[in-house]
Amino acid sequence: ATTLKAAATADGRYFGTALTDGNLGDSTLLGVADAQFDMVTPGNEMKWDTTEPSNGSYNFGPGDQIVSYASGHGMRVRGHNLVWQNQLPSWVSSLPSNQVQGAMEAHITAEVTHYKGEVYSWDVVNEPFNGDGSFVADAFYNAMGSGYIADALRTAHAADPNAKLYLNDYNIEGENAKSDAMYNLAQSLLAQGVPLGGIGFESHFIVGQVPSDMQANMQRFANLGLDVAVTELDDRIQLPASSAALQQQATDYGNVVKDCLAVSRCVGVSQWGVGDPDSWIPGTFPGWGAATMFDQNYQPKPSFYAALAAL
Ligand code: XIL
Repeated sequence: ATTLKAAATADGRYFGTALTDGNLGDSTLLGVADAQFDMVTPGNEMKWDTTEPSNGSYNFGPGDQIVSYASGHGMRVRGHNLVWQNQLPSWVSSLPSNQVQGAMEAHITAEVTHYKGEVYSWDVVNEPFNGDGSFVADAFYNAMGSGYIADALRTAHAADPNAKLYLNDYNIEGENAKSDAMYNLAQSLLAQGVPLGGIGFESHFIVGQVPSDMQANMQRFANLGLDVAVTELDDRIQLPASSAALQQQATDYGNVVKDCLAVSRCVGVSQWGVGDPDSWIPGTFPGWGAATMFDQNYQPKPSFYAALAAL
């Protein structure tokens, strides 16, 4: 196969990207997206600050645009995300704590119901852990304790029993305190019969730092009976990117794809963005960039050829 999506399909997987509404007017970007990817994650359009900017007022227009683009171009959608401390409107964090659970359940029910049958999966809770494996003390945790996670998953399942429900986080790709905490949480949720379907490994890497135990780590989650997915892959380089760094990035991308393919429950790999011009990295990590498989002109980089060859 000559495209990521065709090669992934032949392996029973998908290859995805993130798209924002702002990307939908860029014909060069969309040409690459259409050719290479068969799964889309909305970059921002399904987050709480967009979908419910004030209590009980819903705004699904931006997310609907992504869903409509995807369905017109043979792409499925990963819903992203329902509960997260970031991109959370201040009205939620200002609620008295005895109203947070009701607001969370109402938000999840409204959003999942709106997209019922249109999304393949939901990142129900995003980034619940700190690096040391403790829970992030956000509005949800402060109001409900760690039980907010089970409640969020049950609420989402009631609204769309066919969507695969994920917990998604970063720096859980290798075995460490944070991934151990996620593993213990997953095991305990499953033991309680909570409808957890998968774990998303964001995979925002620094070039040369893909954990060597990524496959083994994903496999231990798969062994619990969960799907696993690489959900937000990028591999940042200090700018200007040297050719050695671009070669290392190719090795990294190839390794991530191989790690997924080696785990039968790894359903697919999604890159966070289409190419370097639309990547979030330079804006969030000043001095870093060149983090994707397509260069400033959306031409394929060594990392693209390595990912394709690994599929
Ligand atoms: C990022 C978006 O790409 C940016 O546009 C936005 O300003 C901040 O969020 N982990 C996630 C994603 O789960 O939702 C984040 O996306 C990147 C880190």
